[in-house]
Amino acid sequence: MSAPPSFVHDVPASRVVFALGAIEQVGAEASRLGGARVMLIAGGPEAALAASIESQLGDRIVTRFTDVTMHVPVEIAQAAVQQAQAHEVDLLLSLGGGSSTGTAKAVALQTGLPMLAVPTTYAGSEMTSIWGLTENQRKTTGRDPRVLPRTVVYDPVLTVGLPADLSAASGMNAMAHLVEALYAPGISPISFLQAKEGIRALAASLPRVMAAPEDLDARSEALYGAWLAGWALGTTGMGVHHKICHVLGGAYNLPHAPMHSAVLPFATAYNEQAAPAAMAAVVEALQQAGQPAASAASGLFDLQRRIGAPTCLADVGFDPASIEEAAALVVAGAPVNPRAVDADGIHTLLSDAVAGGRPQ
Ligand SMILES: NC(=O)c1ccc[n+]([C@@H]2O[C@H](COP(=O)([O-])OP(=O)(O)OC[C@H]3O[C@@H](n4cnc5c(N)ncnc54)[C@H](O)[C@@H]3O)[C@@H](O)[C@H]2O)c1
Repeated sequence: MSAPPSFVHDVPASRVVFALGAIEQVGAEASRLGGARVMLIAGGPEAALAASIESQLGDRIVTRFTDVTMHVPVEIAQAAVQQAQAHEVDLLLSLGGGSSTGTAKAVALQTGLPMLAVPTTYAGSEMTSIWGLTENQRKTTGRDPRVLPRTVVYDPVLTVGLPADLSAASGMNAMAHLVEALYAPGISPISFLQAKEGIRALAASLPRVMAAPEDLDARSEALYGAWLAGWALGTTGMGVHHKICHVLGGAYNLPHAPMHSAVLPFATAYNEQAAPAAMAAVVEALQQAGQPAASAASGLFDLQRRIGAPTCLADVGFDPASIEEAAALVVAGAPVNPRAVDADGIHTLLSDAVAGGRPQ
């Protein structure tokens, strides 16, 4: 990146503990935050991962919330808030993917309680002060410093059980944060380097994760890339890709990570001419990872095909009959983006993503 004329580098502080076996440190990290009455927030599949946390914290876990739902419906959020208040909780401990983290954030938003996050996917929510709630098929998001976890414990061992299809899709969700960060309004020289490194790390590790899901070295590099991705998402702002996914997730309840994966090459192609420095960085990072890339969009598409990540919006449950409506919703809330966000352009982007195939 050539020297920028000006920038704002605004990175809120959180403590990050990253290690194989870091789950063993959750008890100590909870103590560091003064957690004496902890609410453990973990969905059904993650409950199996909770055993170590439960044995470390014992009766300091005063209540568990398991009704974790993607995109955090407001009624679920309300139930979680009431549960936290009824048990006079002093620390929220989330274990799981973005849905567990998001549920804890919804409680933190209303109560101001501190959060400790233990992520088990590559979604990146644990590094952001962004909350999201869904009501009447519309997703609302906002930023609030209260929802940024005070501490994040990353343990690659916890991701070994993430099914292959979800690992690939979640990895591409993280990739989307990194690609959009490169041209986002809040990019700084340091964030640019960090985002590029995250792209390299994910592109290098995801094929290895797919080949050997229990390879802890590959899992570590993927989770490292996801950490950088979450940080990028939290500190730089995003563009048209995230706006589209925000609309599609809220209005049509599409699965979060697969939807991100399916949209990414087409949103990247949409911005290809308008953000040359960002696209050159994507190409370079992919190539450093051994992923051939004639352009940013086609390199990402090839990576997706290599790891079996979704590349077609129709395949992840989007009804082509909704293209018109979805395009109107995206344009109504048009984000800052390198290329102007207009109805024709978004209609074409969505049609291409529905058709799948190599982005033009
Ligand atoms: N606010 C933010 O900054 C932000 C950022 C990214 C995502 N999100 C939100 O996060 C949600 C999506 O998160 P996600 O993609 O991580 O999906 P998720 O949390 O819904 O998890 C997907 C599935 O994987 C299972 N799972 C998670 N980790 C596992 C593991 N290690 N082993 C086995 N199964 C596991 C879950 O139980 C679930 O069934 C969306 O609601 C999205 O809006 C928010």
